[in-house]
Amino acid sequence: MSSLYCISVKDVQEAYTKIHDLVHTTPVMTCSSLDALATRKLFFKCELLQKTGSFKFRGALNAVKSLAADRCTAVVTHSSGNHGQALALAAQMTGIPAHVVVPCTAASCKKAAICGYGAQIVECDPTDESRAEVAAKTVQETGGVLVHPNQNVAVIAGQGTIGLEVLNQVPGVEALVIPVGGGGMLAGIAVAVKAIKPDVRIYAAEPLNADDCYRSKMNGILTSNPQPPITIADGVKTNIGHNTWPIIRDLVDDVFVVTEEEIKRATRLVWERMKLLIEPTAGLGLAVVLSRRFQETTDVQNICLVLCGGNVDLGTLDWLKD
Ligand SMILES: Cc1ncc(COP(=O)(O)O)c(C=O)c1O
Repeated sequence: MSSLYCISVKDVQEAYTKIHDLVHTTPVMTCSSLDALATRKLFFKCELLQKTGSFKFRGALNAVKSLAADRCTAVVTHSSGNHGQALALAAQMTGIPAHVVVPCTAASCKKAAICGYGAQIVECDPTDESRAEVAAKTVQETGGVLVHPNQNVAVIAGQGTIGLEVLNQVPGVEALVIPVGGGGMLAGIAVAVKAIKPDVRIYAAEPLNADDCYRSKMNGILTSNPQPPITIADGVKTNIGHNTWPIIRDLVDDVFVVTEEEIKRATRLVWERMKLLIEPTAGLGLAVVLSRRFQETTDVQNICLVLCGGNVDLGTLDWLKD
């Protein structure tokens, strides 16, 4: 079955062997008041506590280590978000230069984080064309390799290691709820979990305003967002892609969409009840579990939600400004 897809469970297991001594085995936390609200037992996989503040470090490290074994001389990406930071640290730890293409309009805290992890920033105009053009030029000039944030196979396998950890940490888990952007995390976890425990359900969580994964599943064909989405869950504005779609099509049991209000409420609940500083993208899973469709259609009791990141731009909080 797995040969149909860009990765197999063996790739995820090999990724785990490669990265496990350098990534945090993030804790799984519980919260009885959120259990009561959800009328289920919830297990929160705390990837906001991963190095660089998101799960992205797993995939980036697996990709960089694989490339280093092939004598790659530099890595390049055009993600200024969590993948950019993760690739920068992974490259620094592996001793390879990293070049991150960043729009000149990007928040200064993002640029500072990328520089802080030792990567070179290459500025571009704030358009998709400029990003792609500058990244291609940087690849040519540096002789480096472009590491795509969600379609690179080593990245997808690295993200799948979350699934291996959850199966060990939560032996009675019946379902996982996973935010989906490009689908690297969702596809990696789905391949790992379905190969080891096929009865565990895999649910995707997506903003209604960026519902390409939901519509792809409904249509049975890869369907992109018609225009750049506007959502507070900024980690999942991207479309799923050609490597992740076949896995999502076959192995993901359902996709749930939630409104901006539902995402904000869930994020706030995690801040208040669990004291965990998640970014809004990580609020998607709880928003789904609390949503009417999930409550009315889903009978699973033991559910793991991946709290995928904690990179909140604190500069947006007025009282912290001066
Ligand atoms: C915090 C966070 N969660 C989820 C995602 C979505 O991951 P993927 O693109 O692998 O679906 C991202 C992507 O940047 C992210 O930064």
